Amino acid sequence: MSKSIGLSKDKNWWRQAAVYQIYPRSFADSNGDGIGDLKGVTSRIPYLQSLSIDAVWLSPFYPSALVDGGYDVDDYRNVDPKLGTLADFDEMLAELHKVGIRVYVDIVPNHSSNLHVWFKEAIASEPGSKARSRYLFRDGKGVNGELPPTDWVSHFAPSAWTHESAMGGKHNQWYMHWFAPEQPDFNWDNREVHDEFLKTLKFWADRGVDAFRIDVAHALKKDLSEPLRNLNVFEGLEERGAKGKGILADRDEVFAIYKEWRNLFNQYDPPRVAVAEANVHPERLPLYASTKTLGQSFDFRFIDTPFEATAYKESVQDALRLAAKNKSSCTWTLSNHDQIRHATKMGLNPAVDRRSWMLTDGTSHPLDKASGTQNALAASLFILALPGCTYMYQGEELGLHEVTDIPEDRIQDPQYLRNLKVDKGRDGCRVPLPWKKSGTSFGFGTGSAHLPQPNWFGDYSVEAEEKDSLSALSIYRKALEIRKGLVTEEKLKWHKTGNSSVLHFSRPNGWHCITNFRAAPIAIPKGELLISSHPLQGGKIAAGTTVWFKKEKK
Ligand code: GLC
Ligand code: CA
Repeated sequence: MSKSIGLSKDKNWWRQAAVYQIYPRSFADSNGDGIGDLKGVTSRIPYLQSLSIDAVWLSPFYPSALVDGGYDVDDYRNVDPKLGTLADFDEMLAELHKVGIRVYVDIVPNHSSNLHVWFKEAIASEPGSKARSRYLFRDGKGVNGELPPTDWVSHFAPSAWTHESAMGGKHNQWYMHWFAPEQPDFNWDNREVHDEFLKTLKFWADRGVDAFRIDVAHALKKDLSEPLRNLNVFEGLEERGAKGKGILADRDEVFAIYKEWRNLFNQYDPPRVAVAEANVHPERLPLYASTKTLGQSFDFRFIDTPFEATAYKESVQDALRLAAKNKSSCTWTLSNHDQIRHATKMGLNPAVDRRSWMLTDGTSHPLDKASGTQNALAASLFILALPGCTYMYQGEELGLHEVTDIPEDRIQDPQYLRNLKVDKGRDGCRVPLPWKKSGTSFGFGTGSAHLPQPNWFGDYSVEAEEKDSLSALSIYRKALEIRKGLVTEEKLKWHKTGNSSVLHFSRPNGWHCITNFRAAPIAIPKGELLISSHPLQGGKIAAGTTVWFKKEKK
């Protein structure tokens, strides 16, 4: 039985929290329909508690046709009937709070779905109408308006514009969508849109939600001055640079929105917090993470940092420097629902082009699963010891690998379906979790799983790993438990190691962390050994291992 401990009173709980991301459709299925649901989450609270996490972040569970895994929201203030009800949400929240786990919900303010009542109204209305002004409708180019208004490219489809006729519109306009056509972008120059989102944030905050993850937080404000300008390329991070001069994203005007949100957050006790998913130049991150705006932003650099000492150290130094700019805390993350699982990345030769490899169903180059999981654990213990907040993704605590061979007819992700099949997409990290060694859907539910689980999933199941004190799950549990007692001032000191493949840092309370990336086994310094991500070899720290130890301060 889970023990009731309630929430701490600490207003700064988020600064160094361990946050666990739940992708609700793939976590646990309570009614056997193959789709994970909120009651499934509630049923697994003892498991979440066994991870000693401070919070969970739930990816969208709102009504949605699932064109983009739920990031196409039909109704921001409701629960998808496939996933449960608002009463199920309240129950889940209350039960999580009882055991001291806070809750983040995902807010998707850049776009709704095409099934949102506002978009349906817009499509049915006249050009120039109030209903259309909530989205980005424009006349097309060409003699009869048969060409899109600009050359803007979307993330998923070739063009960021779709003619309204595709959605049943009877006029001759185009609407903009930075993602799939079923994800029309809101017009954030319209006050009504601001008010609607304040209402949504208040709705969840009043229910007791502690924090928000803000989807594509950089894209709300665009340069819509007429004539709209062509871009010639997909406007990515490189094109936008560090100046806040993007056309489609990362414009300074966006912060006025977040200042309004901050005023709302501060009306709560403790103040609500938010973390920005802002895919921007690192120098811009502090603007999103300011105490006057969202308070925190994801720093995704470890997702692409090679598992290598110099690169890891540089990443840490730079992130610390940026966080110091606005007194926010650092955030560390190795995986999420958009990325190839990091155990897999770390088990592949770094020279392999992962995108092409995925397109061959993971057959073009060998994957060393054992060393991938081992390095992944070493990386996790490294980032868990750093000052700041860690965001983990469901399944990484099992050392789980990417599913690379989902058959084409089972793929759900528009990143694959819309990208002319040049990208295998993100379903491989969204396959329902294995809870049991065998049986229907490996214990995910009593029915099947909405994405196919491979046979090897059982070896990574909670059931299998729980019995093994050296498994990824056992190491995570132990590390997260002791981390709770170790979290201290947000400072770090590097120690010389005399080895370019070994990093050693400590925190002000004598908590030390050493990672041997690729070197021959190294001796372990004097002190109390707290945990090792991989068994010591002859008393030494082998390559692909992180150890924590405690040294009393002199
Ligand atoms: C974010 C989400 C991703 C989604 C996109 C569009 O990047 O993490 O899953 O596809 O936004 O909402
Ligand atoms: Ca279900």
